[in-house]
Amino acid sequence: MVTLTIDGVEISVQDGTTILDAARNVSGVGKIPTLCHINSPALSDLKPVKSCRVCTVEQVRDGRSVFPLSCVTQVREGMVINTNSDVVKERRKDIIREHLTRCSKEPVILELAKEMGVAIPEGDLQEEECILCGMCYRACNDPRGLAAEAISQVKQNGASYYQVDETKCLACGDCMIACSLGTVKLGEKAAIIPKPKAAAK
Ligand code: SF4
Ligand code: SF4
Ligand code: FES
Repeated sequence: MVTLTIDGVEISVQDGTTILDAARNVSGVGKIPTLCHINSPALSDLKPVKSCRVCTVEQVRDGRSVFPLSCVTQVREGMVINTNSDVVKERRKDIIREHLTRCSKEPVILELAKEMGVAIPEGDLQEEECILCGMCYRACNDPRGLAAEAISQVKQNGASYYQVDETKCLACGDCMIACSLGTVKLGEKAAIIPKPKAAAK
């Protein structure tokens, strides 16, 4: 077992537990946001992609703060973690602003921004439907499941995105479950991942 402190509460959890999972067991600790972490039991063994960064927490170490990603960082003996300090809230706000700039109309991103008290930034906003987190790709290609390998990453007109090969798709729906934004759909023949507007030109 490992003993650590989260938001002032001392707890003991199994070795190998992530900070995110440990925090979920502490009553009184608020929700740590996630955008590329699978909460569905059906895909719980999927390897994390650690790309969205909104799960950042503050770790106080030797009087200084560092900011690990809670979804992948395992607990260590004596760790002191703050999930809701001013400094970590500011970090998360900066991160959600980046997602908002890319996906300025996506309901999941807008809701998270609202919860964090972040207004829609000014300037050049995009209206993409995908944060390029890579979870759909991981769900489709990971050897733990069907490993259909129907999703690939492509580049077109300077835009990177994920696309589905209809001839390989098994219509299992794992990529839909894996997408926190809910923008992957199951079409008649195969899953459909939104294509970025820049690439569609
Ligand atoms: S629905 Fe198709 S693209 Fe999506 S995970 Fe299953 S096989 Fe892959
Ligand atoms: S479609 Fe969804 S799961 Fe796939 S990269 Fe985009 S946001 Fe992530
Ligand atoms: S949930 Fe941790 S990096 Fe996305």
